[in-house]
Amino acid sequence: MNQATAPDRQEDNPLRDVRDRRLPRVPDPCALVIFGVTGDLAQKKLIPAIYDLANRGLLPPGFSIVGFARRDWTAEREFAALVAHAARTNARTPWRDEVWARLAAHLRFVNGSFDDDEAFKALAAMLDGLAADGGAGSAAFYLSIPPSSFPTVLDQLNRAGLGEAPRPGGWRRVIVEKPFGHDLESARRLNTSIDQVFAPRDVFRIDHYLGKETVQNILALRFGNTLFEPVWTSHFVDSVQITMAEDVGIGRRAAFYDSVGTARDVVQNHLLQLLALIAMEEPTSFDPDAIRVEKLKVLRAITLPGDIRLHTVRGQYTAGWVAGEHVSGYLSEPGVPADSTTETFVAIRLGVQNRRWVGVPFYLRAGKRMPRRVTEVAIIFQRNPHLPFDPADVEMLGNNQLVMRLQPDEGVTLKFGSKVPGTTMEVRDITMDFQYGESFTEASPEAYERLVLDVLLGDRTLFPDASEVEASWQVIDPLEEAWAQTRPEPYRAGRWGPHAAEELLASEGRTWRRA
Ligand code: BG6
Repeated sequence: MNQATAPDRQEDNPLRDVRDRRLPRVPDPCALVIFGVTGDLAQKKLIPAIYDLANRGLLPPGFSIVGFARRDWTAEREFAALVAHAARTNARTPWRDEVWARLAAHLRFVNGSFDDDEAFKALAAMLDGLAADGGAGSAAFYLSIPPSSFPTVLDQLNRAGLGEAPRPGGWRRVIVEKPFGHDLESARRLNTSIDQVFAPRDVFRIDHYLGKETVQNILALRFGNTLFEPVWTSHFVDSVQITMAEDVGIGRRAAFYDSVGTARDVVQNHLLQLLALIAMEEPTSFDPDAIRVEKLKVLRAITLPGDIRLHTVRGQYTAGWVAGEHVSGYLSEPGVPADSTTETFVAIRLGVQNRRWVGVPFYLRAGKRMPRRVTEVAIIFQRNPHLPFDPADVEMLGNNQLVMRLQPDEGVTLKFGSKVPGTTMEVRDITMDFQYGESFTEASPEAYERLVLDVLLGDRTLFPDASEVEASWQVIDPLEEAWAQTRPEPYRAGRWGPHAAEELLASEGRTWRRA
């Protein structure tokens, strides 16, 4: 990709075939309105992603960032300083004055609280003004705010008539950050209030895992090769393990995290989406709807164990050592109530009730304060029913495994048996590694970069829709219900969760992969 190519030059190029998805696509002139622009997400991810997009020439001329927050700034200069600081500190591409000058020329700010009608009228007038400058009034509203404020902001957008583009060819879209509700019922309520303002095709729910290059590679690996798909069934697969381990604790997020816990924070969304991509059938095309239909079938086919308490583990970290540093326990984190029963680790055994997967356990585990940060999906194949080797050698051969490492050290590893060099027929497991960093020179774009660009382009492929969100809650709700009166088991920070997580697999003759 020629990163320096200016967007307008591409548009003028008569040789450019707009159907060619390999060419970088540039959205029509538009604005991105960020609610919660002073918050952590906007500062660390969104604004840097926008700057990086601008730096790669992927934003349209006249692209506007509109900040909406309660700040008594007298001049837009102060807003510009905040945006510049976020971009300078957290963007991945180098700082370039000319790129910043182009972005800064179109920064706007609206001061107001979410229940302030006047502020929304001012926002409407501002977007009208931007449309008058030559655009069609297209705008995406990014709700980077606590979920409790979603209904108010959606209602305000509705009343200010902001849900519809003022001119033909224009669009209005909304971007919702997770958590998408707290359970099925609240998710349905949220979906209803979104539907009252925006058409389903204009709603973009962000699950940032889907923006990760390596997550998208699951589909490329599965459906772009002949090698894997024939054995991707219960006839050959023993089990699937999905691990999302983080070495960090909850930091300063107690207010959010303590009312949520690991299952709602990352399993309901990231891990179930990963499971859906691993287990789905081949879509008829790579169109958003075709992929969604297949993912949804999987989510709806997920089965919970008969005895949830026996086949799930909840844990909470206590003080310990992570990477040579002593860290405090969850209950001593700032803002966490001393008697909190919120989990910081879960291990869950799920099934997928369809012909391809019947009988194959899907083991999911996710946790904070694990020994290291790693997210991976491992397909563990059945052992060969007959191994014509010396019994001592047979013990050296484990199950074949295909491991997709999503982060860090993105890549794919295949584990299989091989002859040990020498005069005897000795066999042992070895691994074959593919590393993204070594095979491609292009760096992967940050997930938010890809996702923000897709919203502006109106491409919904990487965004879960309302039905997927609701199907996922249908998996999580019974778990939460079964756990309601239980206390999580303690595990020392720096360990792979409570001992019970090992037992969960051991009782079925398996072990977790050493990730
Ligand atoms: C977020 C969760 O969705 O994902 C956080 O709310 C978690 O608790 C984060 O730390 C992990 O994201 P990543 O991209 O670092 O794996």
